[in-house]
Amino acid sequence: MMIKNIAVIGAGTMGNGIAHVFAQYGFNVTLTDISEAALGKAIETISKNADRQVSKGIITQATKDRILSTLHTSTSIETGVAKADLAIEAATENQAVKLKIFKELDAFTPPSCILATNTSSISITAIAAVTGRAEKVIGMHFMNPVPVMKLVEVINGYATAKEVTGEIVHIARQLDKIPCIVNDYPGFVANRVLMPMINEAIYSLYEGVAGIGEIDTVMRSGMAHPMGPLQLADFIGLDVCLSILKVLYEGFGNPKYAPCPLLVNMVAAGRLGVKSSEGFYKYTPGSKELVPAF
Ligand code: CAA
Repeated sequence: MMIKNIAVIGAGTMGNGIAHVFAQYGFNVTLTDISEAALGKAIETISKNADRQVSKGIITQATKDRILSTLHTSTSIETGVAKADLAIEAATENQAVKLKIFKELDAFTPPSCILATNTSSISITAIAAVTGRAEKVIGMHFMNPVPVMKLVEVINGYATAKEVTGEIVHIARQLDKIPCIVNDYPGFVANRVLMPMINEAIYSLYEGVAGIGEIDTVMRSGMAHPMGPLQLADFIGLDVCLSILKVLYEGFGNPKYAPCPLLVNMVAAGRLGVKSSEGFYKYTPGSKELVPAF
């Protein structure tokens, strides 16, 4: 199957990153979102991130111009996905929202189109079950920032066809990514391993073992992580971390995944990390200084 036309649904952080890399590697991309403002912001972000790539010599100015000229936007899912060979959903991490989108994708994409989701933890099998083509539904989980991180976690649902997995692995390689095939169980592999570490870091803070800066320094300087777990939680979004931990907790019925009460409180207080300007650290636009929030 020749995959050329890509539809990305959702223009947030992940959606704009996914649209960016597909356009960078020569695919025709249509980015769809119900909000015109979100689409405008996404194009601005893609342009800025492409500027970074130009200044580092990763892409040329001509490639940047091509990215922006081959990227189309739409506020209608029906027209945005009409010619897609591959549709990738990157909407809010909410099961009801995703199920609604997949019913629409099933109705409006050509019958041969592969339907992928960038979900970080919601069951691929449950998403596939609302479509009439479960064998063509798969997880394609990119990491943030998408233009930089190499991994694509490729998640097989219960009914995903082998040929579809093969296509997605092939496409991930065309994007110069490293695909890794896993099966559909709560948190897959990336978040099943990452989130307990982040939760444990929050428990260490909550129980007074050490302060924010100390916990992150231990993991940065001792384990060579580019960001400490608390900074990474802010980067991912504390609400996203909480919702993934709930999926692990409910999916396995094991108390070891119970979200730390401090995380629950911070989300209830609207301290969501970078996107709300405060989480474990305070964020000031234009500044890279790490200032613990408490
Ligand atoms: N687009 C394009 N390029 C970008 C970029 C973006 N959005 N963000 C950063 N970059 C580039 C920079 O230009 C820079 O390039 P060079 O190395 O060529 O100089 C490089 O990335 C490093 O960026 P910075 O110098 O600005 O900052 P940094 O050195 O602190 O790195 C980082 C930033 C890449 C985000 C690094 O801190 C990092 O790797 N952090 C961990 C990220 C991580 O773990 N992501 C996974 C999160 S989990 C997830 O996404 C899945 C989930 O389900 C929750």
